[in-house]
Amino acid sequence: MMKQKTGKLFGVGVGPGDPELISLKAVRILGSVHMIFAAASPKNSHSLAMRIARPYFPPGTPVIRLSFPMTTDRKTLKECWRQNTGIITKELEQGKDVAFITLGDPLTYSTYGYIVREMKKIAPHIRIETVPGITSYQAAAALVHTPLAEGEESLLVLSGAKGGEQLRRLGPQVDNIVLLKTYRHFEDIYSALKEMDAVDTTTGISCCGQPDENVATDIREMVHKKPNYFTLLIIKKKRS
Ligand SMILES: C[S@@+](CC[C@H](N)C(=O)[O-])C[C@H]1O[C@@H](n2cnc3c(N)ncnc32)[C@H](O)[C@@H]1O
Repeated sequence: MMKQKTGKLFGVGVGPGDPELISLKAVRILGSVHMIFAAASPKNSHSLAMRIARPYFPPGTPVIRLSFPMTTDRKTLKECWRQNTGIITKELEQGKDVAFITLGDPLTYSTYGYIVREMKKIAPHIRIETVPGITSYQAAAALVHTPLAEGEESLLVLSGAKGGEQLRRLGPQVDNIVLLKTYRHFEDIYSALKEMDAVDTTTGISCCGQPDENVATDIREMVHKKPNYFTLLIIKKKRS
Protein backbone atom coordinates (compact mmCIF):
# COMPACT_ATOMS: atom_id res chain seq x y z
CA MET A 1 0.00 0.00 0.00
CA MET A 2 1.27 3.49 -0.86
CA LYS A 3 2.22 5.56 2.18
CA GLN A 4 0.01 8.64 2.64
CA LYS A 5 1.73 11.95 1.93
CA THR A 6 2.07 14.01 5.10
CA GLY A 7 0.69 17.53 5.29
CA LYS A 8 2.70 20.71 5.63
CA LEU A 9 2.97 22.92 8.70
CA PHE A 10 2.67 26.66 8.03
CA GLY A 11 3.64 29.07 10.79
CA VAL A 12 1.70 32.16 9.85
CA GLY A 13 2.27 35.61 11.30
CA VAL A 14 -0.92 37.66 11.00
CA GLY A 15 0.57 41.03 11.94
CA PRO A 16 0.17 43.11 15.10
CA GLY A 17 -3.50 44.11 15.13
CA ASP A 18 -4.35 46.31 12.16
CA PRO A 19 -6.31 43.92 9.93
CA GLU A 20 -4.59 45.42 6.85
CA LEU A 21 -1.12 44.49 8.09
CA ILE A 22 -1.28 40.85 7.06
CA SER A 23 0.68 39.59 4.06
CA LEU A 24 -0.87 38.34 0.81
CA LYS A 25 1.00 35.09 1.37
CA ALA A 26 -0.55 34.64 4.82
CA VAL A 27 -4.01 35.29 3.37
CA ARG A 28 -3.45 32.74 0.57
CA ILE A 29 -2.25 30.06 3.01
CA LEU A 30 -5.06 30.65 5.50
CA GLY A 31 -7.54 30.14 2.66
CA SER A 32 -5.97 26.85 1.60
CA VAL A 33 -5.14 24.85 4.75
CA HIS A 34 -7.33 22.09 6.20
CA MET A 35 -7.00 23.22 9.82
CA ILE A 36 -5.98 26.20 11.90
CA PHE A 37 -4.15 25.97 15.21
CA ALA A 38 -3.76 28.84 17.64
CA ALA A 39 -2.39 29.04 21.13
CA ALA A 40 -4.90 29.71 23.88
CA SER A 41 -3.52 31.30 27.00
CA PRO A 42 -4.88 33.57 29.70
CA LYS A 43 -3.19 36.53 27.98
CA ASN A 44 -5.02 36.93 24.78
CA SER A 45 -2.67 37.84 22.00
CA HIS A 46 -4.00 34.63 20.52
CA SER A 47 -7.65 35.57 20.33
CA LEU A 48 -6.56 38.78 18.63
CA ALA A 49 -4.58 36.70 16.12
CA MET A 50 -7.73 34.67 15.52
CA ARG A 51 -9.82 37.82 15.00
CA ILE A 52 -7.34 39.03 12.37
CA ALA A 53 -7.17 35.65 10.60
CA ARG A 54 -10.87 34.75 10.66
CA PRO A 55 -11.96 36.61 7.49
CA TYR A 56 -9.36 34.71 5.49
CA PHE A 57 -10.33 31.09 6.04
CA PRO A 58 -13.56 29.35 5.00
CA PRO A 59 -16.10 29.27 7.85
CA GLY A 60 -16.03 25.46 8.04
CA THR A 61 -12.27 25.23 8.64
CA PRO A 62 -11.67 23.52 11.98
CA VAL A 63 -9.93 25.72 14.56
CA ILE A 64 -8.07 24.13 17.46
CA ARG A 65 -6.80 26.11 20.41
CA LEU A 66 -3.80 24.68 22.18
CA SER A 67 -3.11 25.53 25.82
CA PHE A 68 0.27 26.91 26.75
CA PRO A 69 0.48 27.53 30.50
CA MET A 70 1.85 30.86 31.73
CA THR A 71 4.60 29.33 33.82
CA THR A 72 8.38 29.55 33.95
CA ASP A 73 8.73 25.93 35.10
CA ARG A 74 10.84 24.40 32.30
CA LYS A 75 9.64 20.87 32.92
CA THR A 76 5.96 21.81 32.65
CA LEU A 77 6.64 23.93 29.59
CA LYS A 78 8.64 21.26 27.77
CA GLU A 79 5.96 18.66 28.43
CA CYS A 80 3.32 21.04 27.10
CA TRP A 81 5.29 21.86 23.91
CA ARG A 82 5.80 18.15 23.33
CA GLN A 83 2.11 17.36 23.80
CA ASN A 84 0.91 20.22 21.60
CA THR A 85 3.40 19.35 18.87
CA GLY A 86 2.11 15.78 19.06
CA ILE A 87 -1.48 17.01 18.52
CA ILE A 88 -0.43 18.98 15.41
CA THR A 89 1.73 16.12 14.09
CA LYS A 90 -1.21 13.72 14.26
CA GLU A 91 -3.13 15.89 11.80
CA LEU A 92 -0.10 16.35 9.55
CA GLU A 93 0.46 12.59 9.44
CA GLN A 94 -3.09 12.25 8.07
CA GLY A 95 -2.11 14.40 5.11
CA LYS A 96 -3.68 17.65 6.34
CA ASP A 97 -1.98 20.98 5.78
CA VAL A 98 -2.21 23.06 8.94
CA ALA A 99 -1.53 26.68 9.86
CA PHE A 100 -0.35 27.72 13.30
CA ILE A 101 -1.21 31.39 13.56
CA THR A 102 0.54 33.95 15.73
CA LEU A 103 0.18 37.64 16.42
CA GLY A 104 2.90 39.74 14.79
CA ASP A 105 5.81 37.64 13.62
CA PRO A 106 5.82 33.89 14.38
CA LEU A 107 9.49 33.79 15.36
CA THR A 108 9.50 36.83 17.64
CA TYR A 109 8.57 35.92 21.21
CA SER A 110 6.02 33.41 20.05
CA THR A 111 4.98 29.88 21.02
CA TYR A 112 5.45 28.85 17.37
CA GLY A 113 9.24 28.82 17.92
CA TYR A 114 8.83 26.02 20.47
CA ILE A 115 6.53 24.06 18.16
CA VAL A 116 9.06 24.20 15.32
CA ARG A 117 11.88 23.07 17.61
CA GLU A 118 9.83 20.14 18.91
CA MET A 119 8.58 19.24 15.43
CA LYS A 120 12.15 18.98 14.14
CA LYS A 121 12.84 16.53 16.99
CA ILE A 122 9.75 14.33 16.96
CA ALA A 123 8.80 14.47 13.26
CA PRO A 124 11.80 15.65 11.24
CA HIS A 125 10.18 14.49 7.99
CA ILE A 126 7.40 17.10 8.24
CA ARG A 127 7.74 20.00 5.80
CA ILE A 128 7.56 23.40 7.46
CA GLU A 129 7.03 26.84 5.98
CA THR A 130 7.17 29.96 8.11
CA VAL A 131 5.46 33.12 6.89
CA PRO A 132 6.87 36.20 8.60
CA GLY A 133 4.55 38.82 10.02
CA ILE A 134 4.92 42.52 10.72
CA THR A 135 5.96 42.76 14.35
CA SER A 136 4.23 44.86 16.97
CA TYR A 137 7.25 47.12 17.28
CA GLN A 138 7.52 47.74 13.53
CA ALA A 139 3.88 48.84 13.51
CA ALA A 140 4.43 50.94 16.66
CA ALA A 141 7.49 52.69 15.18
CA ALA A 142 5.47 53.44 12.04
CA LEU A 143 2.62 54.82 14.15
CA VAL A 144 4.89 57.39 15.81
CA HIS A 145 7.18 57.89 12.78
CA THR A 146 10.21 57.00 14.88
CA PRO A 147 13.23 55.28 13.33
CA LEU A 148 14.17 52.12 15.20
CA ALA A 149 17.81 52.47 14.14
CA GLU A 150 19.75 54.74 11.80
CA GLY A 151 23.23 54.73 10.32
CA GLU A 152 25.55 52.69 12.51
CA GLU A 153 23.20 52.59 15.50
CA SER A 154 22.29 49.36 17.27
CA LEU A 155 18.81 48.08 18.12
CA LEU A 156 18.06 45.71 20.96
CA VAL A 157 14.74 43.87 21.28
CA LEU A 158 14.08 42.83 24.85
CA SER A 159 11.42 41.27 27.03
CA GLY A 160 10.33 43.21 30.08
CA ALA A 161 8.52 40.22 31.57
CA LYS A 162 10.92 40.15 34.52
CA GLY A 163 10.95 43.94 34.96
CA GLY A 164 13.89 46.28 34.38
CA GLU A 165 16.63 43.71 35.05
CA GLN A 166 17.72 43.18 31.42
CA LEU A 167 17.32 46.85 30.63
CA ARG A 168 19.81 47.74 33.38
CA ARG A 169 22.27 45.07 32.25
CA LEU A 170 22.16 45.48 28.47
CA GLY A 171 20.71 48.97 27.99
CA PRO A 172 23.98 50.89 28.47
CA GLN A 173 25.58 49.06 25.53
CA VAL A 174 23.08 49.97 22.79
CA ASP A 175 21.58 53.00 21.02
CA ASN A 176 17.93 51.96 20.71
CA ILE A 177 15.76 49.46 22.56
CA VAL A 178 12.36 47.96 21.97
CA LEU A 179 10.87 46.54 25.14
CA LEU A 180 7.96 44.11 24.83
CA LYS A 181 5.89 42.49 27.61
CA THR A 182 5.96 45.58 29.80
CA TYR A 183 2.59 45.10 31.49
CA ARG A 184 3.56 43.05 34.53
CA HIS A 185 6.40 45.02 36.13
CA PHE A 186 6.03 48.48 34.68
CA GLU A 187 7.15 50.28 37.87
CA ASP A 188 10.52 48.53 37.88
CA ILE A 189 10.93 49.17 34.14
CA TYR A 190 10.19 52.84 34.77
CA SER A 191 12.83 52.94 37.57
CA ALA A 192 15.41 51.40 35.22
CA LEU A 193 14.59 54.05 32.59
CA LYS A 194 15.04 56.78 35.22
CA GLU A 195 18.44 55.33 36.17
CA MET A 196 19.39 55.38 32.46
CA ASP A 197 18.11 58.96 32.07
CA ALA A 198 15.85 57.71 29.27
CA VAL A 199 12.38 58.63 30.55
CA ASP A 200 12.12 61.63 28.23
CA THR A 201 13.27 59.72 25.17
CA THR A 202 10.89 56.77 25.60
CA THR A 203 7.50 56.36 23.95
CA GLY A 204 4.85 53.90 25.15
CA ILE A 205 2.51 52.41 22.58
CA SER A 206 -0.51 50.33 23.55
CA CYS A 207 -2.89 48.32 21.38
CA CYS A 208 -1.24 49.43 18.18
CA GLY A 209 -3.62 49.07 15.22
CA GLN A 210 -6.57 48.23 17.47
CA PRO A 211 -9.56 50.47 18.24
CA ASP A 212 -8.15 51.38 21.70
CA GLU A 213 -4.69 52.30 20.37
CA ASN A 214 -2.83 54.73 22.65
CA VAL A 215 0.47 56.60 22.45
CA ALA A 216 2.13 57.95 25.61
CA THR A 217 4.80 60.47 24.64
CA ASP A 218 5.29 61.10 28.38
CA ILE A 219 5.57 57.67 29.98
CA ARG A 220 5.20 59.17 33.48
CA GLU A 221 1.46 58.99 32.82
CA MET A 222 1.73 55.20 32.51
CA VAL A 223 3.20 54.62 35.97
CA HIS A 224 0.03 54.90 38.00
CA LYS A 225 -2.16 52.62 36.00
CA LYS A 226 -1.00 49.16 35.03
CA PRO A 227 -0.35 49.15 31.28
CA ASN A 228 -2.41 46.96 29.02
CA TYR A 229 -0.96 43.57 27.95
CA PHE A 230 -0.50 44.98 24.42
CA THR A 231 2.01 47.62 25.47
CA LEU A 232 5.57 48.14 24.32
CA LEU A 233 8.20 50.82 24.72
CA ILE A 234 10.49 52.37 22.10
CA ILE A 235 13.52 53.66 23.97
CA LYS A 236 15.90 56.04 22.20
CA LYS A 237 19.10 56.65 24.12
CA LYS A 238 19.97 59.86 22.23
CA ARG A 239 17.70 62.87 21.96
CA SER A 240 16.78 63.55 18.36
C1 LIG B 1 4.35 37.36 23.34
S1 LIG B 1 4.86 38.90 22.64
C2 LIG B 1 4.40 38.67 20.97
C3 LIG B 1 5.23 39.49 20.00
C4 LIG B 1 4.77 39.30 18.56
N1 LIG B 1 5.08 37.95 18.08
C5 LIG B 1 5.38 40.33 17.60
O1 LIG B 1 5.92 39.94 16.55
O2 LIG B 1 5.29 41.53 17.91
C6 LIG B 1 3.56 39.92 23.27
C7 LIG B 1 4.00 41.36 23.45
O3 LIG B 1 4.10 42.01 22.18
C8 LIG B 1 3.70 43.37 22.30
N2 LIG B 1 2.54 43.61 21.42
C9 LIG B 1 1.92 42.67 20.65
N3 LIG B 1 0.95 43.26 19.92
C10 LIG B 1 0.96 44.58 20.23
C11 LIG B 1 0.22 45.70 19.80
N4 LIG B 1 -0.76 45.58 18.89
N5 LIG B 1 0.51 46.93 20.34
C12 LIG B 1 1.51 47.07 21.24
N6 LIG B 1 2.25 46.01 21.69
C13 LIG B 1 1.98 44.80 21.19
C14 LIG B 1 3.36 43.62 23.78
O4 LIG B 1 4.53 44.11 24.41
C15 LIG B 1 3.03 42.21 24.25
O5 LIG B 1 3.20 42.08 25.66
